[in-house]
Amino acid sequence: MDNLAAIILAAGKGTRMKSGIVKVMHPLAGAPMVAWPVAVARQAGAGRIVAVVGHQAERLREHFSNDADITLAVQEEQLGTGHAVACAAGDLSGFSGKVLILCGDVPLIRTETLRAMVAAHEATGAVLTVLTARQENPHGYGRIIRGFDGRVIRIVEEKDATPDERSRTEVNAGIYCAEASFLFDAVKRIGNDNAQGEYYLTDIITMANDRGLRCTAHPVADPVEVMGINDRVQLAEAARHARRRIAEEHMLNGVTLVDPAATYIDQGVVIGADTTIQPGVQIAGGCRVGEGCTIEAGAIIKGSELGDRCVVESRAVIRGCRLGSDVVIKAGTVMEDSTVMDHAAIGPMAHLRPGSELGAHVKIGNFVETKKIVMGEGSKASHLTYLGDATIGRNVNVGCGTITCNYDGVNKHRTVIGDDVFVGSDVQFVAPVTIGSNTLIAAGTTVTRDVPADSLAIARTPQINKEGWKLRKRDQ
Ligand code: UD1
Ligand code: CA
Repeated sequence: MDNLAAIILAAGKGTRMKSGIVKVMHPLAGAPMVAWPVAVARQAGAGRIVAVVGHQAERLREHFSNDADITLAVQEEQLGTGHAVACAAGDLSGFSGKVLILCGDVPLIRTETLRAMVAAHEATGAVLTVLTARQENPHGYGRIIRGFDGRVIRIVEEKDATPDERSRTEVNAGIYCAEASFLFDAVKRIGNDNAQGEYYLTDIITMANDRGLRCTAHPVADPVEVMGINDRVQLAEAARHARRRIAEEHMLNGVTLVDPAATYIDQGVVIGADTTIQPGVQIAGGCRVGEGCTIEAGAIIKGSELGDRCVVESRAVIRGCRLGSDVVIKAGTVMEDSTVMDHAAIGPMAHLRPGSELGAHVKIGNFVETKKIVMGEGSKASHLTYLGDATIGRNVNVGCGTITCNYDGVNKHRTVIGDDVFVGSDVQFVAPVTIGSNTLIAAGTTVTRDVPADSLAIARTPQINKEGWKLRKRDQ
C-alpha cells in the first residue's frame, strides 16, 4: 500500500537479556525476534518499512541486507522511543499517509490485528490510534489512562505512575497507527521530563488531546499478541506461544503432531498432509517435508528437503540434505549436505558426511561412514565401512569392513568402482585406484593396483594350518 508505512523500533540493547547479542536478534522459533513484526507489517500492507537501529546496527544491517523494502535509520544514542521515531522521520520525508509503529520486542502481534487497527483508525478519523490490551500482570507496561467518557487521555509509564495508575490493567502495546503529518511534527516536540529522563513516544497521546485532535484506543482481545519481551523468561514464554501457533497451523493443514507442545517447528517450514511428527522433533525454518512422512521422536531436521512417504527414525539428524520419496533414515543416523534418491535406506547409526550422493534403492547400513561419494542405483554397503572420495557404480555390493584408503597423509585420492562389482568383506582400496565393472574383489584383499573389468582380484597371505599346535602348547 502506497499510503501505509511502518517504523520498527529496534535500537535498544535489551539490558535485561544479559546477552552479548542485541535483544531483537535473539531467535524466536528460528527467526530473529525483529523479523516477526517486520513480516507482520509487510503482510498488513506497509509498502515501506524503516527499522530504527542502534545497538549492533551492523548485525541488523546484515540481517536485512536482502530486504529491498526496508531502510535502516540509525539512532546513535537510545534516548527513548519518541526520539527513535524522530530518527525515522528523515527516511519518510515527503510521506503523507499512515504510519504503523511497532516494537522489535513485541513479536507476536498478528497481521489481522494490525489490519483491524488500521481500519478502526480510518473509521474513527483519528490522527493516532493506540493498540491496547488487558494484562493480568501489567508490570513493566505503560498504563492507559482513560477519561470519564472512555477516551484515552494519556499513557503513563510504570516508573512515573501513581499507585492508583499502576493498579490499572489496560496497557500500551507499544503499537500505533498515526497520520504521518501529525506524528513527525509531534515527535519533534516531546520532552524528557520524566522518571527515566527519556523522550517517551507515549507523550504524543497527550499532544493530540491538547490540540483537540482525535486519539483512540484499539483493544486487542488476546494479551499474548502484545507481549513485550524484556528478558529470557519472557522470551521462552513467547517462544512457547509462537510454537503453538505454528503447530496449530500445521495441524489444521492435515499434519499430525502427537504432542504439539513438545514439537519444535520453526517459522517457515512446509509439511505435507498426513505426515506424523512424534514428540521432541526439531524442524528448522526453510525445511520442506513431503506428504505421508513419519518423523520419529527426537529427530532433528535442518536446511533439508524430504520427499513424500519418508520415514525418519528416532534421533536421526539431517542437515542440509535432499531426500527423494520413500526414503528411510534409520535411528541415530547423522547426515549433512548430502543427497539421497527415492527408496534408499540409510542406517541405523550411519554417518553421511558432506557430499554424499546416493542413488535410488541404495542401502547404507549400520556404522557406515561416507564422504564425497557418488553411489549408483541399487548399490549397498550394509555394515561397518568407510567410503570416502569414491565413485561407485550401480548394483555394487560393498562387503562388511571395507575401507577406501583415501588419504596418504598429504593428499586425498579417489577410488572408482564400476557397475555390478562384488566387494568381499574386509577389503581396502588404496586410492587412487580404479576397479572395472563386473569384477569380484575377494574378501581380505588390499587393492593397490587397478582391476580390469570382469576379473577376480585377490591379494591374501596364503593360510598355513599347523596341525596339533594347540595340544602341544598345552603339554609344554
Ligand atoms: C514501551 C512503552 C510502554 C509499552 C511497552 C510495550 C514508551 C515510553 N513505553 O516500554 O508504554 O507498554 O513499550 O512493550 O514508549 N527503542 C529504541 N530506541 C530507544 C528506546 C527504545 O529503538 O531509544 C526500542 C527498543 O529496542 C524496543 C522498543 O523500542 O524494541 C521498546 O523499548 P523498551 O525500552 O523496551 O520500552 P518499554 O520500557 O518496554
Ligand atoms: Ca519493551
